[in-house]
Order: sequence, then C-alpha cells, then structure tokens
Amino acid sequence: MSKVPSFLSASGKIHRNCISGVYPASKTERQTVSEEKVKWNSPFPDYNPPNYTSDKLKKAPYADPEIGDKEFQPRWNAQDGLINRKSHEGDYLVVDEYPQNPVGRTGLRGRGKLGRWGPNHAGDPIVTRWKSDKHGTTHSDSQRGKRILQFVSIQRGDSGEWAFPGGMVDPGENVEETIRREFKEECMDSEQLTEDEKSTNKNLVEQFFKNGHEVYRGYVDDPRNTDNAWIETVAVNYHDETGSNLGTLTLKAGSDAKNVQWKDATADLKLHANHSEILQKVVERLGAQW
Ligand code: BGC
Repeated sequence: MSKVPSFLSASGKIHRNCISGVYPASKTERQTVSEEKVKWNSPFPDYNPPNYTSDKLKKAPYADPEIGDKEFQPRWNAQDGLINRKSHEGDYLVVDEYPQNPVGRTGLRGRGKLGRWGPNHAGDPIVTRWKSDKHGTTHSDSQRGKRILQFVSIQRGDSGEWAFPGGMVDPGENVEETIRREFKEECMDSEQLTEDEKSTNKNLVEQFFKNGHEVYRGYVDDPRNTDNAWIETVAVNYHDETGSNLGTLTLKAGSDAKNVQWKDATADLKLHANHSEILQKVVERLGAQW
C-alpha cells in the first residue's frame, strides 16, 4: 500500500475546492487554508474563520434550524427520524455543539448554503454507453485500441459547471430513489411530461437502474463545504453495453439543470467538485480510454 501523506485526514482524503476564495453566491471570503493546514491537528494558531450561513436557509422548509434553537435537538452520527446524520466516513466529532468537517478546515464556519449541519447526503447516477457513429460502430482510440466511454452530463444551473445529474437525498428517501428521481428530473424533464410519457420513461429507468455498480461512497470535495456542513455522495454506474437501452434516450434538461448531453469521458474534461475522479473509476472499471 502506498503511504498516505501526513496532511491527509484519517480517511486519506484532502479537499482543495473549499479552502480559499469567496464562498459561492456570497460576499464572504474564506480564511485561506493551505493544504498542509487542512487537517485539524496541524498547528494553525491564527485560525479564526468567518461565520456564514445563507439568509435563504432561514426561510427554507427543507433546512435545519440554527444550532441552539430549542426546537432543534439533532441526533448526530445517527439516523435522526427521517434525516440521515451519519457520515460515510465514520463518526465525526461534535465540538461545542457543532459537527466538525471530517476532512479538515475549510476557512469558513457556519453552514454556507447547505441545508443541513453535518453531512448533506447526495446521490449521483453515472449513466454510460460506448461512443459510436450512426451505424452503431464503436470508436476506439487509434493508438491504444481502447473504446471511448460516454456519460450523461448536466450543466448545473448554479455554477454553469458540467456534472453528474445527481442531487440531494430527500428526508426519508433512500439514495437509490434519489438517484432515479434526479436522473428523471434533470435528464428526462419528467416534470414537463404527460402521464403516459412519464410512465414509459419510468419503466425504462426502473428496469435499467436495477443493475448499478457503486463506484464511490463518501465525502465530496465541494466548493460549498464548510467547517460544520459538507456534502457526501453515493455514485452508481449504470452501463448500457449495447447502447440499445438508456443509450437511446432523448435527453431533455429539467429541474435545476441548464443543459444535458452525452459527453466523452476524458481526463481533460473539467467537471464539478470531484466528479472527474469518480468518472475515472468508471473508465478504469470498464477498460475505456481516459
Ligand atoms: C449534486 C451532486 C454532487 C453533490 C456534491 C449535489 O448538489 O447534485 O451531483 O455530487 O452536490 O458536489
């Protein structure tokens, strides 16, 4: 096993997308944290990050109340009623009533724009097919003879970045349901369809999404993470080997997706958060070109 550099967290993870700069959709600037100081036990005597929680969360029905609010009695590291407050990374610490980011410092206290204190759970579908021409012939990289994988990607409404069509787990929902629901909402614009169209698509997705292969479960290096709130995801690959199933879908962007496309999975593609790293796992598993 290769040695984990000492600045990595216990889980061997590091974050780079949430340690400097202005927090998304805000005017609040993070206190800059260098990579060596991310880990909570690296000395950082001047660490005194600003506190920011978006005002929108105060009115959002889906969001947690403030910590200290008498009505709010969260059960950390546990299933709390319909809310899963467990982390995929193991038990996190709760310091002075606030859950602590398991990877390390982010240069920002509070919740930013995340609805939950502690882990905010998401799910991501990675729907793939082989790239082919209109005659159905698959393309391979002429030098290495490996085929090119394509995946369904959406352009996010908030940042404009390309990403997997995932989303946040609703209260009481299991992550497989989240993955199917988000795919239908963001890639098949299920909110705009007739009842008949909805049921045809539903069947296609329900059938095809029975055979998924989990490729990642854990912390996401997301620009919205803070010291007290962070995103975790479960990413599942659904591969259409023949291209005759979901590979034939006409994609239509819906919900908070601006665009949807089959994209070639390549190393130079810049994707949201750590989606490129997760995509690479799928590429390796299927023996595609990267
Ligand atoms: C997205 C997921 C993503 C997660 C973490 C969510 O808002 O919908 O696709 O994995 O954030 O970045």
